[in-house]
Amino acid sequence: MTGIWTSTRSICTKVARQDLSARYPTDLPAWRALKTHYRDDMKSSSLRTLFAEDSRRADEFSVVSGDLLLDYSKNHLTGTTRDLLLELAKEAGVAEAIEDLFSGKHVNTSEDRPALHIALRSKISDQVAVETPGVIEIWAVLTRMEKFVTAIQEGELRGHTGQDLTDIVNIGIGGSDLGPVMASRALRQFWRPGMNFHSVSNVDGTQLVDLTESLNPAQTLFVVCSKTFTTQETMSNAAAAREWIAGTLGADAVKEHFAAASTNQEAMDAFGINADYRFGVWDWVGGRYSLWSSIGLSLALVIGMEHFQSLLSGARRMDMHFRQAAAEENMPLLLAMISVWYNNFFGVETHAILPYDNRLDRFPAYLQQLQMESSGKGVRSDNRPVTVATGQVIWGEAGSNAQHSFYQLLHQGTRFVPVDFILPVRSSGATTAQQDLAIANCLAQSEALMEGHASADTCRAHPGNRPSSTIVFESLTPETLGQLIALYEHKVFVENVIWGTNPFDQFGVELGKKLAASLEDAVSTDRPYEGQNASTQRLLERVKRLRST
Ligand code: F6P
Repeated sequence: MTGIWTSTRSICTKVARQDLSARYPTDLPAWRALKTHYRDDMKSSSLRTLFAEDSRRADEFSVVSGDLLLDYSKNHLTGTTRDLLLELAKEAGVAEAIEDLFSGKHVNTSEDRPALHIALRSKISDQVAVETPGVIEIWAVLTRMEKFVTAIQEGELRGHTGQDLTDIVNIGIGGSDLGPVMASRALRQFWRPGMNFHSVSNVDGTQLVDLTESLNPAQTLFVVCSKTFTTQETMSNAAAAREWIAGTLGADAVKEHFAAASTNQEAMDAFGINADYRFGVWDWVGGRYSLWSSIGLSLALVIGMEHFQSLLSGARRMDMHFRQAAAEENMPLLLAMISVWYNNFFGVETHAILPYDNRLDRFPAYLQQLQMESSGKGVRSDNRPVTVATGQVIWGEAGSNAQHSFYQLLHQGTRFVPVDFILPVRSSGATTAQQDLAIANCLAQSEALMEGHASADTCRAHPGNRPSSTIVFESLTPETLGQLIALYEHKVFVENVIWGTNPFDQFGVELGKKLAASLEDAVSTDRPYEGQNASTQRLLERVKRLRST
């Protein structure tokens, strides 16, 4: 396989560092070459022809990393496309950016700090950014987590009435919810006997109300996950949970029924979190990258620390691949560049994530935050406006539910939607006839999307030529899940390097939060709305009228 970067060298040992961040992607020679290549060669490409012309295509456009195989052959690209995309990555400084990430440079430019989720799953001997304040504490926090998890599991730490704590309720939102929830569902077969995982995230309070109907407070441990410990949703849910515990078991029980993960010691004190039940997080961990930190505590409590450590090792394995593999074999890099290809040259706006395993049902939602909070940016790291489309709308659902919902649009609609199929072949550790059906459906769908079907009856014709990538692995284990998540984290990182944007901030979510805080008063009291928006004013009047009847 020939690539722009030679396969014997790590992609991180390339061209001398230059001022790469100042360049717009559209100024790069490879970008211009890709534009021409798209217009002249690929705009009307036929996947069927590409396969017919190259009997080795499926091999040629597949790559393996650890336990994962990525088959990207059913995409609109040729060897030339791949070379040009990798050249673009090279010209955009991806290799240098990877080094910056791993060496603890302040890649989160707007907040002037590193993004060190990779350190969280490194071994101390890897020496990933160990000089960054806090990094050296990672392993001590893991050790404390391990002791805590073991003590709960072995009944050394029990609830207020002396009963075992068997029901773990994660209270958090965004990255402090999606990671633990997605991973706990994915790893259902690793739950320790007798342990249960629950979660509460939404602000309206109904989740907790519904949950407490079936929970025994004496056996419930709430884990309040909030990097800031100020997030409105989490704080209001945690306060309601505390009321429930205090109301059922007495105020003294709070210290035995709440644990927390946060950077904010003062707020944890004020809430009443027992000093032995709290775990630190660092400001250089972004919310959507925080599963690897103590934000993963609720998951660790349910699957056990050994499996949590395997999740970290899986991610580390992908980290090493990302840092060391040659460009043309570098899975996150390839996945990212295919996405840039569709996003910026084909003008595609959305990307579907379709896992064929119900245990990955929250994976699309997890990737939604990872991708859209990281890449939904209109301003570059150097504060200039972007000149190209960034981000994509990520959506999806577990197959085959998805087939009976929106696949009609994928097969015959007018939209062009690239798809990632994700296929563990033995999700529950065993092969079953039903899983055979899931696998057959996944393979059938990617084939149908590509091949299409001719019919004289136009309503029944499938145009085909619709692209997809497929990620296959043996079984859904902590190790493979770690690899899968890290794959997408790095994919998002590379895309942002190409676009010149910062994947590690999320100021776009702040304005709405601020307005909600000021509107809360107008909703809950007789005080007037102080804003200027006539529609809000009218809606508020309606809300108040409906509430008063
Ligand atoms: O909604 C924005 C956000 O800051 C996310 O990035 C984050 O995952 C979530 O809120 C929760 O934040 P915290 O962990 O501080 O409660």
